[in-house]
Amino acid sequence: MTYIPKTYDQIDQWNSLMFIYNSALKQMNVKIEVLNSEFVHIYNYNPIEHVKSRLKTPESIVKKLKRMGCEVNTFNMTEKLNDVAGVRIICSFTSDIYQIADMISRQADITVLYVKDYIKNPKPNGYKSYHMVVTIPVYLTEGPVETKVEIQIRTVAMDFWASLEHKMYYKLGGDAPEFLQKELKACADVVDMLDAKMYSLNEAILQWNAQEEKRKTENETASRTEGGEQPDGGALAGEAEASA
Ligand code: GTP
Ligand code: MG
Repeated sequence: MTYIPKTYDQIDQWNSLMFIYNSALKQMNVKIEVLNSEFVHIYNYNPIEHVKSRLKTPESIVKKLKRMGCEVNTFNMTEKLNDVAGVRIICSFTSDIYQIADMISRQADITVLYVKDYIKNPKPNGYKSYHMVVTIPVYLTEGPVETKVEIQIRTVAMDFWASLEHKMYYKLGGDAPEFLQKELKACADVVDMLDAKMYSLNEAILQWNAQEEKRKTENETASRTEGGEQPDGGALAGEAEASA
């Protein structure tokens, strides 16, 4: 996002930028809500448990730019940082993650800048999540402003691990002793197992439901046939016989 409307020259650049990022978050949230509702409408299934969005605080922006060795200014903030606006989508199963990512990527006005798939390639500490950095246009009076948003998609179990790991990491001042790192990795493996188990359990339930539906339909057809109804358009077949 390099373009800031001319009419904003006099007002505070910082506030203008934060207003644009905030608008991008609002648009992203509406988009995700619509996609989820459509999913419920078509498949009677809700893939998204919840969505969280946040704007990076001024303190974090300054800290990150300094850490990157960049001068702290609004140009570097928009060019170098990809997570000023962030959305986290928490879903039920690992399979939902790719479906949601695909639904987002297929939106005509969204451009995917890059993806980091920490599910196929987890971080050494055990962190798993699907990250996308996209741009979404924010329509201002002077025209659209393509704005970067970082999207993280993960399951409830992955989110549980990541939230606690994040808290512990901060408590430890960013440097965990080796035995704690091992324990955290072991917890990530448990999370993996839980996700896999929940996924196969859900698959089994879906299969069971499909079999039950099939069985019900077969029973209904059988009882109709026993009751004297012709299974394939009885009335017409009867007429054909009578006129023959
Ligand atoms: P950051 O400078 O941390 O934003 O990393 P990056 O620009 O290299 O991007 P990356 O996609 O690796 O990480 C982006 C965000 O994912 C982070 O800001 C965290 O919110 C989250 N994240 C990445 N790695 C970890 C991790 O090991 N633990 C937890 N809890 N969160 C992580
Ligand atoms: Mg970040």
